[in-house]
Amino acid sequence: MIRLEHIHRYFQVGEHTVHALNDINLTINKGEYVSVMGPSGSGKSTLLNIVALLDRPSSGRYVLNDIDVIQRSDDELARIRRENIGFVFQFFHVIPRLTAAENVEMPMILAGINPKERKQRVLEALAAVSLQDRIHHKPNQLSGGQLQRVAIARAMIMRPEVVLADEPTGNLDSKAGLEIMELLENLNRQGVTLIMITHDQVLGSRALRRIRIVDGQIE
Ligand SMILES: Nc1ncnc2c1ncn2[C@@H]1O[C@H](COP(=O)(O)OP(=O)(O)OP(=O)(O)O)[C@@H](O)[C@H]1O
Ligand SMILES: [Mg+2]
Repeated sequence: MIRLEHIHRYFQVGEHTVHALNDINLTINKGEYVSVMGPSGSGKSTLLNIVALLDRPSSGRYVLNDIDVIQRSDDELARIRRENIGFVFQFFHVIPRLTAAENVEMPMILAGINPKERKQRVLEALAAVSLQDRIHHKPNQLSGGQLQRVAIARAMIMRPEVVLADEPTGNLDSKAGLEIMELLENLNRQGVTLIMITHDQVLGSRALRRIRIVDGQIE
């Protein structure tokens, strides 16, 4: 479960302060499917990055599965993130010099899982996103939709409870976008909590719960 209480995030740029999140209060239960919408610059990515433990709020409380994460060190946060959270980005963020298999394997190397188990799990994860015949391809040898499927396989490889997606279909055509949506929604049906930012009304309305952010506040 995710609980945010009175979260603020300020960014200081020169002598100018941006109040990107302004008193966010939000509880998301295990297994929910939530879409996050709102105008450009309203704070959606800032919010998701905090939930993903990629960024810290300026003030407020964040409790993830009964752990008060704000109190934890960066190393602890990295471990909590690796074990609990998968993240899918608009621009894929796969590592260019690694193959599809090596990209998916990376979180398991960081977690110290043995090579035999890693290999087995990589094959399963790539098969689950229908990329069993692209295992040794590098990112520049894959389409956008395929890259996003590699990113989903990588996000799922540690079997996280929560998957966060920041405009996962933003750089895909509608057919590839729909395939990505179906993969993510299928994970949700298996019990994974899914939180997805989208600019697309139609895609956003597929979620059972919709959150709208304007000027750093939930409407
Ligand atoms: N690292 C940063 N330093 C300074 N300002 C930032 C930083 N990150 C975000 N901001 C500012 O915070 C506000 C919220 O940004 P954010 O990226 O969360 O918006 P968004 O809702 O995701 O927008 P978009 O739909 O365009 O992706 C914006 O005004 C942005 O300029
Ligand atoms: Mg954004």
